[in-house]
Amino acid sequence: MAHVIRIGLLGLGVVGSAVANALMEKGDHLTGRIGRRLEVARALVRDGDKPRGVDRALLTLDADDILDDPEIPIVVEVMGGENPAHEYIVRALRAGKHVVTANKEVMAKHGPEILSIAADRGVDISFEASVGGGIPVIGPFKLDLVANDIHELRAIINGTTNFVLTQMATRGADFAAALADAQRLGYAEPDPRSDVEGVDAAYKLAILGSLAFHTVVRPADVYHEGITTLSPADFRYARELGYVIKLLAIGRARDGAVELRVHPALMPESEMLAKVDGVFNAVEVEGDLVGRILFYGRGAGAGPTCSAVVADVIDLAQRLAACQASLWRPTYDGRYRFRPMDEVSTRYYVRLLAVDRPGVFAQITRALGDAQISLASVIQKQNLVVGDPPVEYAEIVLTTHEAVEASMQTAISAIAALPVVHEVGSLIRVAS
Ligand code: NAP
Ligand code: HSE
Repeated sequence: MAHVIRIGLLGLGVVGSAVANALMEKGDHLTGRIGRRLEVARALVRDGDKPRGVDRALLTLDADDILDDPEIPIVVEVMGGENPAHEYIVRALRAGKHVVTANKEVMAKHGPEILSIAADRGVDISFEASVGGGIPVIGPFKLDLVANDIHELRAIINGTTNFVLTQMATRGADFAAALADAQRLGYAEPDPRSDVEGVDAAYKLAILGSLAFHTVVRPADVYHEGITTLSPADFRYARELGYVIKLLAIGRARDGAVELRVHPALMPESEMLAKVDGVFNAVEVEGDLVGRILFYGRGAGAGPTCSAVVADVIDLAQRLAACQASLWRPTYDGRYRFRPMDEVSTRYYVRLLAVDRPGVFAQITRALGDAQISLASVIQKQNLVVGDPPVEYAEIVLTTHEAVEASMQTAISAIAALPVVHEVGSLIRVAS
């Protein structure tokens, strides 16, 4: 009988349950490939009474049962959140265990230190599932793309928000209902504010940015905005203008600085990223040698995430069986400073409500001109009646040529302060 490699699961929720099932169902097949039998030894949960499709004897409420067990060489962390997950990962590595994690928050906040602890202890931490769900993207950055200088990456890396945006754009779905569907389907984080406020995508961009630009990127280095302020009118106007709205993660290295930002963006509907819908994610990378490449697949959900986690487990198990350590270590060359959001240059879409009378456009364009911003297009859309007593306003949609963020913010404050302007409803960047 093949030797057994015992695995400790920290968490048995959406991802953990799928991992446990896959390891059990594919047992014989994997044993044939690895030459060792993979066995789920224990699974840490919070609630021992919750009905689950596994043998209750596997469950434990005490992490020490896994972290202090010398017979468990591989720990899979799929519990989520910063703590105690971070503490458990570090304890496992210090105890000489290999770790697989799907935890973007921990890897974004503590990745460099965790990788260094693993290197010192001669063990591995694998984190393919932390970005892009089932899409192989960490592996290519670690291995296949290392010959390149990466100039740019643009990505859709949150399945929940892409699902919600697709539902809103194509079915006119209500935000709350679409988010509830994403939660029911197992895409959302335990606290979905992390998804819809762009925090989850910012964690993922910090991880990808560190690998792509060989720079230690912390979550605080990534500017982020979420999708909660988008209105049905924006989807309608975006479509009329030939765009779709996506929550885009952008990393761009230029002139010795790297900019990292996550925010909703209007994308020309002809672009490949614009066609990435529902729970699908995509990461578009531009390297000096390879040119532009695109990674595409399901970015969240039990199956795709389990695919990445189990692949990492198999890789570690194969190396354990062969007594081979991984040679990969991150390299940080300090080549780039971070470009603050104020200095980023992009195009903009603005939707506002203003009094419908002659001279109003002139005031708005003057405010933009004073900030050195050039208009690309202005359209007066339908008139809306708002307020009590009711007042009729014109809805105006304008787009600009490329402008510096700080200038745009100055112009928007000036426009919002104009007595003829009722409100600036949206300011959305246009992908370029
Ligand atoms: P989940 O369904 O909420 O499962 C979390 C599991 O961890 C549950 O079994 C929970 O126990 C256990 N747990 C949480 N905190 C614990 C604590 N303090 N002590 C003991 N057990 C604890 O979450 P998930 O969707 O599987 O996500 C897990 C991780 O994978 C997260 O880092 C997430 O970001 C990442 N991820 C998820 C997806 C996805 O599509 N869902 C995709 C990629 C990455 P109980 O069952 O008793 O509550
Ligand atoms: N909540 C995350 C998402 C899970 O929706 O993308 C995958 O990391």
